[in-house]
Amino acid sequence: MKTANHPLVIGNWKMNPQSMTMATRLTTDIKKGLQKVDGVEVVIAPPFVYLESVHRVQSGSDTFKLGAQNVHTEKLGAHTGEISLPMLQSFDVRYVILGHSERRSDGETNASVNKKVHATLKAGLRPVVCIGEATRDHEAHYLNFIETQIRESFAGVTNAKLGHIVIAYEPIWAIGTGHNASAEDIHEVKLFILKILTDIYDRAASNRVHILYGGSVTSRNAKELMERGLMDGFLVGGASISATEFVGIVKAVQ
Ligand code: PGA
Repeated sequence: MKTANHPLVIGNWKMNPQSMTMATRLTTDIKKGLQKVDGVEVVIAPPFVYLESVHRVQSGSDTFKLGAQNVHTEKLGAHTGEISLPMLQSFDVRYVILGHSERRSDGETNASVNKKVHATLKAGLRPVVCIGEATRDHEAHYLNFIETQIRESFAGVTNAKLGHIVIAYEPIWAIGTGHNASAEDIHEVKLFILKILTDIYDRAASNRVHILYGGSVTSRNAKELMERGLMDGFLVGGASISATEFVGIVKAVQ
């Protein structure tokens, strides 16, 4: 749940860096950089194979928490290439990114995200559900697209569970392009997301949802996007695999 209005910054390493040694060094540098930072919940979501080494560097400290980039709904069984929630829990993973556009382009749908949301909530972890349009149009049809993503991805989620969910608004045109959405654009979408949530859920539950922005966030634009976009934090891709950049973003949010 949103704790005392603490902003949330999640680093999505995607399929980076290239080796375990580099992953360990990156984690160590981030941990060092975050030592004097307070009041921001920081999450690192490395590739599955690095979870153990990132967890080892974390070694019970509160500096950052662990996230995963996807999960399977079943606890175990014949699912080649998949990773289960209990496996993630053995590395104290607390957050699971779901429905990232890079996975949606590989066949992930609102229906499959919905199943994963329920499984993740049931296991007591926090789903980070990515939504966002591919392009914008003058008639604002992209808002209908976002509404459908929310309604279908959260179908069956109760008021009581809603507060555990994180929504990451990531317009696809802003991901990895160096062209972030403007503070005005993201604030407008945040209000729209809140409107959809309050159509479905009660206001108190809706206000507990962390609404993040993702898409070309850097240490240079983070402060402005945070202050004028009035977001609850960021989901960071490219800039999260540089300790200096990532720590800079966390400090800007603080
Ligand atoms: P980016 O990626 O920060 O590299 O634009 C964001 C994301 O895909 O989560």
